[in-house]
Amino acid sequence: MPRIVLGVAGGIAAYKACEVVRRLRESGHDVTVVPTENALAFVGAATWAALSGHPVSTGVFTDVHQVPHVRIGQEADLVVVAPATADLLARAAAGRADDLLTNVLLTARCPVLFVPAMHTEMWQHPATVANVATLRERGAIVMDPASGRLTGADIGPGRLPEPGDIVAVAASLLADPAAADAARARDLRGLRVVVSAGGTREPLDPVRFLGNASSGRQGVALARAARLRGAQVTVVAAHLSEPLPAGVDVVQVSSTADLAEAMTRLQPEADVLVMAVAAADFTPAETSAAKIKKDGSGTLDLQLTETIDVLGSLSARRSGPPRQVIVGFAAETAKDDDDLLALGLAKLARKGCDLLVLNNVSGGAVFGQPDNTITIIDPDRVVLTASGDKAAVAHRIWDAVVATRTQEDS
Ligand code: CTP
Repeated sequence: MPRIVLGVAGGIAAYKACEVVRRLRESGHDVTVVPTENALAFVGAATWAALSGHPVSTGVFTDVHQVPHVRIGQEADLVVVAPATADLLARAAAGRADDLLTNVLLTARCPVLFVPAMHTEMWQHPATVANVATLRERGAIVMDPASGRLTGADIGPGRLPEPGDIVAVAASLLADPAAADAARARDLRGLRVVVSAGGTREPLDPVRFLGNASSGRQGVALARAARLRGAQVTVVAAHLSEPLPAGVDVVQVSSTADLAEAMTRLQPEADVLVMAVAAADFTPAETSAAKIKKDGSGTLDLQLTETIDVLGSLSARRSGPPRQVIVGFAAETAKDDDDLLALGLAKLARKGCDLLVLNNVSGGAVFGQPDNTITIIDPDRVVLTASGDKAAVAHRIWDAVVATRTQEDS
């Protein structure tokens, strides 16, 4: 069972860490909670012990014969600090060892994930910015805080990301060492990426639409992975049923026409565009202003017209250098691998993108499922195949983007 140490620093968001412990245990992780003394002012030791199933202490002088200040860090597969306050980040960056948690941070050799939460002013203070930079240089992974309501009436970046977001990142760092390395290296740092996700809807009348079954899970996983690897991320979101990760900008869209408008507007500033959205290919020729009524004939004739091919038009419109990398997706019902490749290559040529992520959906539904199997192709070859959960698949897609950019630079 993978061993996670959850460090909890003294901030009001400590209460949200209770949910993180619960979810990590439910998903099969062994969790040891190491709070700071100040964290216990917000949530008591009994709560942490009950939720984790392990005893809890804050200092280095409890059970000294077992040398917990060294053992807990050494034995961990992942250390997560959530919330990481400004003070905890400062102590970690300075290499202090003045309580059990900072001792654990100095003895851990596994990936360490800091999840900051503090007031916006503190997050943006040059001291905190420098401490985060120091921790990142040393190989720690520091998530971005979410934006939104903080304690009191303040609004801004500094909120602890949602427990589901923290658990998704922690699980992917544990399950996927290549993702942990990429997150440590921040190999997408400085890149502006736009990811479209979800499924568009074409209105028939005020209450009905033509839509599709896309949950947006793969797009959300792509956004989370890109953010973790240091990219600046905008999600163009079409009816997502998954919550978005912290630290990304969002543009909400509904129809394929809205999608086209948003992508066109965002294209000039982007280094990478990923079209993970399931865009409706057809839209009603007319949207009825009034609710469509049954006319007694037993049928309803709908006249549909083709929507704009957003991916194709983005590919046609790009300029460079440096060349923008454009990634498309294709869910195909192929007979076998050769058939999938033939369909994929034809689509890639038609769309004019650099990479196409192929899914064979003939065996069963991919939509809304946690796992996925993909083949990524470029105009010349199969770049890679990957399967696993959508987080792992997302990281392989970014690996392919990084490889494409490196190829073009050389
Ligand atoms: N796409 C798009 N605009 C559309 C339809 C699809 O940009 N109007 C994008 C999707 O986001 C996806 C890629 O194009 O990245 C391929 O989608 P797919 O539906 O497989 O492409 P189609 O051109 O509709 O191909 P087919 O004829 O097989 O339906």
